Amino acid sequence: MDYIETGILIAHDYEIELTGDQSPTLRILHKESMHNRRGAAAESVYVYYEAMVRYGSLINQKPESVSLHILSFGFGLGYNEILTVIFFLKNNWSLDRLCLFSKEKDLSLYNLFNNWLTSKVDSGSIFDDVYFGIERAMVNFGGCVSKTAVKEKMKWLLNRKQWIQEGPVASISDFTDIYDVVFYDAFSSKINDYLWSERFLSDLFRARLSQSFVFSTYACTGALKRLAAASDAQFVKRDGYMGKRNASLVFRDR
Ligand SMILES: C[S@@+](CC[C@H](N)C(=O)[O-])C[C@H]1O[C@@H](n2cnc3c(N)ncnc32)[C@H](O)[C@@H]1O
Repeated sequence: MDYIETGILIAHDYEIELTGDQSPTLRILHKESMHNRRGAAAESVYVYYEAMVRYGSLINQKPESVSLHILSFGFGLGYNEILTVIFFLKNNWSLDRLCLFSKEKDLSLYNLFNNWLTSKVDSGSIFDDVYFGIERAMVNFGGCVSKTAVKEKMKWLLNRKQWIQEGPVASISDFTDIYDVVFYDAFSSKINDYLWSERFLSDLFRARLSQSFVFSTYACTGALKRLAAASDAQFVKRDGYMGKRNASLVFRDR
């Protein structure tokens, strides 16, 4: 696991771990790992690609011209951003419609990712392994999209400012858009108590979600279930990935 980025990641107090499906994750020293140790890529596909699939079935009736605002809360290694682009390309959805908002406390992760996007070197980056992990995890979805295509499209989105890489969230006012799809993947309540509080989540649901939305997360909490009911949305408790605690999907179709 000697990646081009290893030295920088270690200097930022990350440990690099290979998970059970051979895809990489990061652990901040002495704290929790970013992904399930049985499979970072497989878990991301299971929890978050599924949200896109669900959204796809919700908006079948909407006109092609409507843009789609996606919030990826907790950029980390960018699994969910890559999955979003793959979803659009696989389903022949025009990327002109996509407005992708990432939120990340550690801005150096964006720098590393953006360097990978523009690098002429085709191997040896941790993000190459993120991509290949996703490619393996998506075999059951009928194939993937090439790494080159994903990188080109992500660069294009960045250049067109359709992918906005934003900093840490400390309060609800740090969310500035109305989102159709939310990947809620900042760290757990053990580390980010406030972000999982009923008060914070209810402000998010009330003020920042579209009429039709999908909100997905690797956790399943009573607060989310209550908010779904209060928002006239459906709450789906999902099995956790490989025996992990339950995940959840909240969605509303109006
Ligand atoms: C579980 S990891 C996310 C994994 C990521 N979704 C991926 O695909 O690799 C959680 C991430 O949330 C970030 N984070 C934690 N608190 C945050 C905050 N208040 N605002 C923005 N990002 C935060 C962490 O730095 C970490 O990168």
